[in-house]
Amino acid sequence: MKLKDWLKTNRSFFNDSDLRFLIKNVFNLNYSEVLGSDVYIDLQNLQYLDEIKELCINGLPLAYIFGKEEFFGLEFRVDRNTLIPRPETELIAERAIEIIRKNNLKSVLDLGCGSGNIAISVKKEVSSDVAVFASDVSFYATEVTRDNAESNQVDISIVNADLLEGFKINSFDLIISNPPYVESDHIKGSLLFEPKVALDGGIDGLDVISKILEEAHHYIKDKGYLIIEVGYQHKQAADKLIESKACFYKLEEWIKDYSDIFRGFILSVIGDR
Ligand SMILES: C[S@@+](CC[C@H](N)C(=O)[O-])C[C@H]1O[C@@H](n2cnc3c(N)ncnc32)[C@H](O)[C@@H]1O
Repeated sequence: MKLKDWLKTNRSFFNDSDLRFLIKNVFNLNYSEVLGSDVYIDLQNLQYLDEIKELCINGLPLAYIFGKEEFFGLEFRVDRNTLIPRPETELIAERAIEIIRKNNLKSVLDLGCGSGNIAISVKKEVSSDVAVFASDVSFYATEVTRDNAESNQVDISIVNADLLEGFKINSFDLIISNPPYVESDHIKGSLLFEPKVALDGGIDGLDVISKILEEAHHYIKDKGYLIIEVGYQHKQAADKLIESKACFYKLEEWIKDYSDIFRGFILSVIGDR
């Protein structure tokens, strides 16, 4: 069977980005190369694709099947202890990099690092004297981050901690976080394969975000920044939370995702701490 015919047959089952991922990881080819060519699938690969499809029918995400995901042009090992990095988080990391460069920031914490995708991408892009820390409450996630830092050849400090426990006051110029923010009763379908601790933000999805806002200003230096990713429906509630902490933070900007939806905010620290 020709690979392009297999793609046609399975286009209703896999979305475009899954098909691209499959072609790259099974055949080491680009999607566009395949469409215009007569590459054949041998029996072994056909069976392999069927097995993958079977796992996907049961909801298992491709990234867990292959144990990897791309983020910011880098490859990250992922397993069931880590969230699969999402494209919208790239936009949050991108803004962090711009802020670090523009303000010549020197110490950065990625709080809730998961596979280490944010910390490692940031470290790759900023000047070598920026100290990047990555922390997570999950020991297993910090171990995956350690592996990814090594495979991507970056030197970052990795800490297993519950939120900011154990860090020194006034340690960071910037804290960036993609915290768990899914409403507890929205964790269903393929999300059930990802770690609950990485997703569960409580009844309204804002439990961990509120805790970060409560504590982060103690750990960020004067005129430092806090960047947090939120769910697509959280802008209004997050604005209220930010307003309630107006003595500590100034809202600098809301970040929109590729669909023009508000998915993260940037605060600067102003308060007396
Ligand atoms: C949404 S995932 C983000 C992972 C990764 N930064 C990314 O963008 O793909 C949230 C991460 O926060 C971690 N986490 C949850 N509660 C935490 C806490 N109290 N302290 C530190 N990390 C926490 C989870 O283990 C998980 O790795």
